[in-house]
This record gives sequence, structure tokens and C-alpha cells, in this order.
Amino acid sequence: MTQPQLKVAGVSKRFGGLQALSDVGITIMPGQVYGLLGPNGAGKTTFFNVMTGLYTPDSGTFELGGEPYKPTAVHDVARAGIARTFQNIRLFAEMTALENVMVGRHVRTRSGLGGAIFRTPGFKAEEAAIAARAQELLDYVGIGRYAEYKARTLSYGDQRRLEIARALATDPKLIALDEPAAGMNATEKVVLRELIDRIRNDGRTILLIEHDVKLVMGLCDRVTVLDYGKQIAEGTPAEVQRNDKVIEAYLGAGHQAH
Ligand SMILES: Nc1ncnc2c1ncn2[C@@H]1O[C@H](COP(=O)(O)OP(=O)(O)OP(=O)(O)O)[C@@H](O)[C@H]1O
Ligand SMILES: [Mg+2]
Repeated sequence: MTQPQLKVAGVSKRFGGLQALSDVGITIMPGQVYGLLGPNGAGKTTFFNVMTGLYTPDSGTFELGGEPYKPTAVHDVARAGIARTFQNIRLFAEMTALENVMVGRHVRTRSGLGGAIFRTPGFKAEEAAIAARAQELLDYVGIGRYAEYKARTLSYGDQRRLEIARALATDPKLIALDEPAAGMNATEKVVLRELIDRIRNDGRTILLIEHDVKLVMGLCDRVTVLDYGKQIAEGTPAEVQRNDKVIEAYLGAGHQAH
């Protein structure tokens, strides 16, 4: 029997008086693109933060490929095989595109920080291999020609693609993308869609937070919709789009429309 790539159950998270997530669970099969939708403030990014070890949940169980994992530290989550991008881009602005991807790769290296400080022969060989792999990843996401540019000089859309390259550098089984299309124009979105398709076809599983309905409909196998931290619908994009609770959540008072 195929194990789910990711199975998260019963996740709750409270911030003071605000219940940001209430008993949320998702199951993603290998090779799926899974969408996490919901109006502003619904709890989508909080869910990412919990499953990648940035926030400690009040409750919840986590499995990756059938093995339990504890999202207690960001590094452990990366080693377990989960990588993510951030809604608010988190690049090293003054480092080059190549260096930003190399930093992502260090999670996977053997000589680690000690080797980097003492610049052992093993470290230097590994460093060359990491640089070569980083260049491959920049080419893969379509920004190879900007390898030596400082991250801050790249266009917004290219910075988002650089974030994806950095996440891929950890060789994740599952990559979680928090609004990768935000701020992109229509042409950039088409390119992004092709990239996400390629990542899936190369054997990775994808969890996607996205507001663009066209992108979600075209890419996602299944979606979950959150509203005020509660899961109000789960199914194929077509099923969810005609769900009354979903229509209400997006059109109801108090929510900003996208
Ligand atoms: N660290 C925190 N401390 C306090 N409240 C928080 C924290 N992080 C998130 N929240 C609150 O939790 C709720 C869910 O926020 P979250 O960022 O997860 O929403 P979202 O679905 O990602 O929204 P958006 O589409 O705007 O990105 C919001 O009301 C937010 O203000
Ligand atoms: Mg968010």
C-alpha cells in the first residue's frame, strides 16, 4: 500500500485569544500537487509554520512517507525531507543568487560547519560540488544567467524562483510553496506553472498556498479550504469551487476579496 507523502492530523494552534488553527488535517499522496486555500488570515501560513518547525502546535500528529516526524526544529524538518518557501521572501539580499542556493544545500553536506571554518580538503571538494549543483538548480528554475547577481537586484518574480531553487537544494520529498505567484504578472505565472509541473514530474510532492484560482484549478489534484482556522472543505478543485461554505467564506462580510 502506498503511504501518504505527508499526513498531518489534528493540528491546533492558538495565539493568545485567537484560535489560528482548529483541528486541521491533510493527507497528500506522493506526486500530488495539493492546494491550501482560504481568505486572508485563515491560517494557511500558520499551518506551514507549524509543519516546518517554526511554531510549536498545541496539538497535532505528523507523518512523512509513513514515518512519524516531529516538527520541533527547522533543521530536522529539512533533513526529514520537507522544504518550503516564504510568503515574505527570505533571501540573503547581499549574497549572490548562487550563494543563496548553496546555503540551502549545506543542510545536506557531510563536513558541515566545522569543515567550512577550517576549510579542510574534504570541504573544498564538497564546496565545488555544491556550487555546481546550485548552478544546475538556478538553470532548472530558469534564472541561471543571474547566478552572480546579488539577490536584491533580481526582479520580484525571479526572487520567488530563487527561493524555490534554494528550497530544492535540500533535495526535498515535499516542497511547500507559500504564495509563489504573489506579485507575478500573467506571463511569469505561466512560467511558474510550468516549473511547478516540472517539479512534480521529477518526483516531488507539492503543497501550495495560492490565491490565484486559475493557477489552483490548473495545477492542484486536491485542495483544502481554511476559514478562521477551520477546515471548511476538502476535495478536487472543481468540487471545492461549488461548495456553499467556500463561496460564503470568500464572499461573506469581513473578508477581503482577492
Ligand atoms: N506569530 C503570531 N502571533 C500572533 N498572531 C499570529 C501570528 N502568526 C499569525 N497570527 C494570526 O493568525 C491568523 C492566521 O494568520 P496566517 O498568517 O496563518 O493567515 P494566512 O491564511 O496565511 O493569511 P494570508 O492569506 O493573508 O497570508 C491571523 O489572524 C494572524 O494575525
Ligand atoms: Mg499567509
